[in-house]
Amino acid sequence: MNLAGILGTGTALPEKVITNHDLEKLVETSDQWIIERTGIKERRQAGPGETTSTLSVQASRHALEMAGITAQDLDLIICSTISPDMPLPSTASFIQRELGARSCCSFDLAAACSGFLFGMTVAEQYIKTGKAKYVLVIGAELLSRYLDYKDRTTCVIFGDGVAAAILGPAAPPSGILASELHTNGQYADHLYIPAGGTVKPASCETVTAREHYIKMRGNELFKVAVRSLEEVSRRVMQEAGVTTEQLALMIPHQANQRITDAIRIRLGMPVEKVYANISRVGNTSSASIPICLDECVRSGQIKKGDLILMSAFGAGVTWGAILMRW
Ligand code: ACO
Repeated sequence: MNLAGILGTGTALPEKVITNHDLEKLVETSDQWIIERTGIKERRQAGPGETTSTLSVQASRHALEMAGITAQDLDLIICSTISPDMPLPSTASFIQRELGARSCCSFDLAAACSGFLFGMTVAEQYIKTGKAKYVLVIGAELLSRYLDYKDRTTCVIFGDGVAAAILGPAAPPSGILASELHTNGQYADHLYIPAGGTVKPASCETVTAREHYIKMRGNELFKVAVRSLEEVSRRVMQEAGVTTEQLALMIPHQANQRITDAIRIRLGMPVEKVYANISRVGNTSSASIPICLDECVRSGQIKKGDLILMSAFGAGVTWGAILMRW
C-alpha cells in the first residue's frame, strides 16, 4: 500500500493588510491588548474582486507547479472552507472549472479550522487504497466576509488567506505515518453563525440583528483547545512510534499564540521547533496549517526526511493531528 505524501504546496494571500491600529478605529480595543492576548499584529483582508475560489485557484496553481503536475492529472479536489463563494454549488466546483481539471470528483468539506487536516486524511485514504493518485487539498477562508466589525471578540482574531497542497504517492520512507480526527458536537454552539441556514433563513430581521456574523465563546474554547491538542498530538506520536525529541517541526493551527505556547510547553518542545506566523496573518482557520507548511517548504525550513507534527482545533468542535515524514 502506498503512503501518501505532500508533493507541492502553494499560498495566495490578499494584498490588503489590516493592522491592529486599523481595528482600534473600529472597535474598543488596543494594539497592546491584541498582541498580548493573541500574538496578532496584522492580518489580510480580501478586496472586492477576490473570492474564496479565485484565491484558491491561485494557491492551487502554485502547488501544481511545485508538484510538477497539471490540473488534468488530478483525481480528486477537496476544498476545506466555512466561507464558501455561495451556499450552492460547492466552491470546489468553481475551482475545478477555473483550473481546467477534468471531471474528477470535487467537493467542499466543513470542519472549520481543522478542515485542512480532515481534507488531508480523506486524501490519504484515497491514495493509500489506490483509488486516486493525485489529490488537491485546499484550505480556503475569507472570514472577513463573515466578521462583525462591531464585535471586538472576533474581528481582531481572524484573517483571510488560502493555501493548497498536492497529495500523492510518497517515496518511502516519506509520507503520512499517523493521523487522528475528532468532533465533539457538545460544543457546537461555542463558535457559530446563527442565521443563513435552515434554522434561521436570511430575513430583514436576521440582518438587522447581525446574525449572519461569527459568534464565539473564545474563553471556553481556549481551554478545550489546549487539552484536546495536547492529547491528540501525544496519540499520533505514540501511533507512529515517534518522540517529541525526534520531531523536526511542529505546525499547530494558528488560533492564538497563547494556545500554541501552552501546547508547546505541555509537550516539552523547544520554541525554535514550533512554527508561528500568527503575528503576520492572524487566524486564517483552515488555511492556517497549509500557509505555514508552504512558508516552511519554500524557505527551506522543512527538509527531506524531517518528522513534522501538525495539529488543529476548530468550530464543531473539531480537532486532529497528522504526523508525517517529509
Ligand atoms: N480588545 C480589548 N478587550 C477585549 C477584546 C479586544 N479585542 N476582546 C475581548 N476583550 C475583553 C473582554 O470583553 C473581557 O473583558 P471583561 O473582563 O471586562 O469581561 C476581557 O477582554 C477578557 O476576555 P476573554 O474572552 O476572557 O479573553 P481571552 O484572554 O480568553 O482572549 C480570545 C479572547 C483571544 C478570543 C481567546 O479566548 C481565544 O483565542 N480563544 C480560542 C479561540 C479558538 O481557538 N477558536 C477555535 C478556532 S477558530 C475556528 O474554528 C474558525
